[in-house]
Parts: sequence; structure tokens; C-alpha cells
Amino acid sequence: MNYFCGINRMKEGTEFERKHTPFIECPDTVKPDEFFEVTIKTGYPHPIEDSHYIQWVELYMSDIYLARADFTQFVKPEVKFVVKAPSKGHKSFTLRALMRCNLHGIWEFKKEVKIE
Ligand SMILES: [Fe+2]
Repeated sequence: MNYFCGINRMKEGTEFERKHTPFIECPDTVKPDEFFEVTIKTGYPHPIEDSHYIQWVELYMSDIYLARADFTQFVKPEVKFVVKAPSKGHKSFTLRALMRCNLHGIWEFKKEVKIE
């Protein structure tokens, strides 16, 4: 299988998939304009080796770019961003994380967050 064709997503919940999926941890509901913490990490520890490691993670609100963290083979691919919720008038939004493994390509995870 060529993991470098397009974006990969978890399908069966295997250990391999969980090692590469950038799970998002954050509140299910936030207030308008509130700052809230978003933690991104894999569901199962990914190898951290010279020849195999996570290179970066990016966070988007729908298609709007929010933040990025770059990693080397000396760092655990786990990151926390503090994100500002959208203003009033929105009912919910989607957080989207992308993570790239140097051997297994880009993986995506999405989480829907409600606005009070
Ligand atoms: Fe990998």
C-alpha cells in the first residue's frame, strides 16, 4: 500500500492506524471567543527513531490553518495549542489535525466542537 497517495484515515482501528492518527483532545463544547486547549497525539505510541518518526502536525479549523509543530527524531510527537473559539453566530466547528510520518505519509483526524 502506498501511504503517500493522498490523506490516510483510520478505518479499522488497528494498532498501525492508531500509531499514525493525530487524535484531538479538547472540550466537546466551548463558549464564543473562548480560548481552549487542544492536545494532539497519536492513539498508540509511534516509533521515535532516526529512520522512522513523526515529522510534523498541523491544526485547522475546517480549512483555516491554525498552527503547526515540527518534530525531529528526538521528540515525542505530542503538542498542545491554545485556540480561540469562533465568535457568536456559529453553532459548531470542525477541528482537523494532520500528521506526517516520514515512512507512512499524512494522516487526518477530525473532531466536531459545539459552541454554547
Ligand atoms: Fe510511521
